[in-house]
Amino acid sequence: MGQSRFIVFHFVLLLCSTCFSSSFGDQNLDKITELPGQPKNVGFNQYSGYVTVNEQAGRALFYWLTEAPSNPEDSYVFLVKWFERFPQYKYREFYIAGESYAGHYVPQLSQIVYERNKGVENPVINFKGFLVGNAVTDDYHDFVGTFEYWWTHGLISDSTYKRLRVACDLGSSTHPSLECMNALRVAEVEQGNIDPYSIFTQPCKDAATLRQNMRGHYPWMSRAYDPCTERYSAVYFNRPEVQKALHANVTGIPYPWQTCSEIVGNYWADAPLSMLPIYKELIAAGLRIWVYSGDTDAVVPVTATRYSIDALKLPTVTNWYPWYDNKKNQDHEKGGFVPHWHKPLTYNMIVP
Ligand SMILES: *[C@@H]1O[C@H](CO)[C@@H](O)[C@H](O)[C@H]1NC(C)=O
Repeated sequence: MGQSRFIVFHFVLLLCSTCFSSSFGDQNLDKITELPGQPKNVGFNQYSGYVTVNEQAGRALFYWLTEAPSNPEDSYVFLVKWFERFPQYKYREFYIAGESYAGHYVPQLSQIVYERNKGVENPVINFKGFLVGNAVTDDYHDFVGTFEYWWTHGLISDSTYKRLRVACDLGSSTHPSLECMNALRVAEVEQGNIDPYSIFTQPCKDAATLRQNMRGHYPWMSRAYDPCTERYSAVYFNRPEVQKALHANVTGIPYPWQTCSEIVGNYWADAPLSMLPIYKELIAAGLRIWVYSGDTDAVVPVTATRYSIDALKLPTVTNWYPWYDNKKNQDHEKGGFVPHWHKPLTYNMIVP
């Protein structure tokens, strides 16, 4: 079924290799808004219509495209179409990278690309592997490692640590149980006003600080992380001229752009508890995987990543060794540690 859908997509894409660069307007005209007999709110979009293939001879072919409803499928269709729009990138070595919740969608998309490439000689998407940073990987081990990080960094009390372990350990991190939510709320209050993405950085404060920061970064962190980045980006990407320049928001969405949408989060149904089965499949397939983690993030901490990756029980092939950002000068700056587990999976820990 999946395979035949792929062929259909591909067929459409071959027909359309030039039409995708035309406006979304054409797409919207082709959208099937209502099909007699079809139940309402089917949860996927359908398009059909004619694509002119020879204007002079008056030849046009008809297509009917059904967009797959699930998320990695959508991302895969996006990739296929993107390569049609940028054919100069076809057949080049291709990696997928992301951080945080991308710990889910990067491996999921990688799995689809790998499976669709299976048996294809010289695939268009010449997929080699993926990279994830501070990645949500396995709910159980992530929870264990996250609570441990909070506790060992003095962010929560002993009793809250115990309460979290009892209330949350076996649940889903995307949709925690009520008891777990309550324990998480207590932990949040105890953590206080910190930047959870960088616990030793001053948190982004008020509008005055924001304005001041807009003119320049903190002098003591010229090249480092700016805790107001998230706020700047929400201001910047909502500017109409920025959206226009980026060809974004062409449909005039009735609400503003956010860095992390609560609406999307609350309705997120597609959240498997673990990505480890996908890791196993892709490691066995010989794909390259690089897992790295900054050790000042309390949201998806390095301890969470270590427990999750350890759960794969991979053999160690290289001992833990320090890694410098300037190889020639070891006095320079220690960039992190590199435990090298299994050939196709490299793990890297980054210290500031
Ligand atoms: C889209 O644009 C409209 C203005 O045309 C704006 O009001 C809205 O906030 C924007 N939404 C997003 C998601 O960017």
